[in-house]
Amino acid sequence: MREKITVTKLAKMKKGNEKITMLTAYDYLTAKLLDEIGVDLILVGDSLGMVVLGYENTLAVTMDDMIHHTKAVVKGVESSMVVGDMPFMSYQINVDEALKNAGRFLQEAGAQAVKLEGGEEVADKVDKIVKAGIPVMGHLGLTPQSVHQMGGFKVQGKEEKQKKKLLKDAQILEEAGAFSIVLECIPKNLAKEVTKTVSIPTIGIGAGSECDGQVLVTQDLLGMYDKFVPKFVKQYARLDNEIKRAVSDYISEVKTGKFPSEEQEFC
Ligand code: KIV
Repeated sequence: MREKITVTKLAKMKKGNEKITMLTAYDYLTAKLLDEIGVDLILVGDSLGMVVLGYENTLAVTMDDMIHHTKAVVKGVESSMVVGDMPFMSYQINVDEALKNAGRFLQEAGAQAVKLEGGEEVADKVDKIVKAGIPVMGHLGLTPQSVHQMGGFKVQGKEEKQKKKLLKDAQILEEAGAFSIVLECIPKNLAKEVTKTVSIPTIGIGAGSECDGQVLVTQDLLGMYDKFVPKFVKQYARLDNEIKRAVSDYISEVKTGKFPSEEQEFC
């Protein structure tokens, strides 16, 4: 069996310049495959709102949705570290709510860590959750739960003021005890600067090659969704076409009586 991924192992990977891999999963079977192949971290992202539940954005995802899917993912995993994504309004209200909801991911669902979006404004929550023994992953740059405030899903950190804030936020998250930070949709050079400045691993999505690790939504990597393919996505397969071909063959074989054949029948 592969070595269990822990926060200590991730810190060592950054020190040793070993790249970190993270992918999303929302169900048992996908999580099992990712774990068997050897992905370091499995994020039960609130992107499940868009990928699994068909919502426009992540805002309607609830704690109960997240716990339900995290439980399924945990069942499929032996060695990867499972990170539960704290949904909109599960940590913004106050420190006590944040701690209570972070605790649910570990206690009810069996995750090893939680992720939440934001910098200075959530530092008190990160501090409290970490002090309770729960590892926290930060998330800066394009933070999808603030989509309306940002005016859409856009690249962040292009202006000098934004750059300074993002760099400061990364340092604040490290001081508050976060074990790593997702950097989403920011210029490559800014991601490089953050990665050099903080001693915790940075995990990029649309943040260039200089981060300590990379994350993608698994369904994007597999090419299952062609409605919108962001520039930062690389499709390593086109499962959408493969699924359509298989289902179309099934339909035609049922219609023509070719399936089931003797091979699939009981005597
Ligand atoms: O919800 C999610 O899947 C995420 C990743 C894209 C980082 O936050």
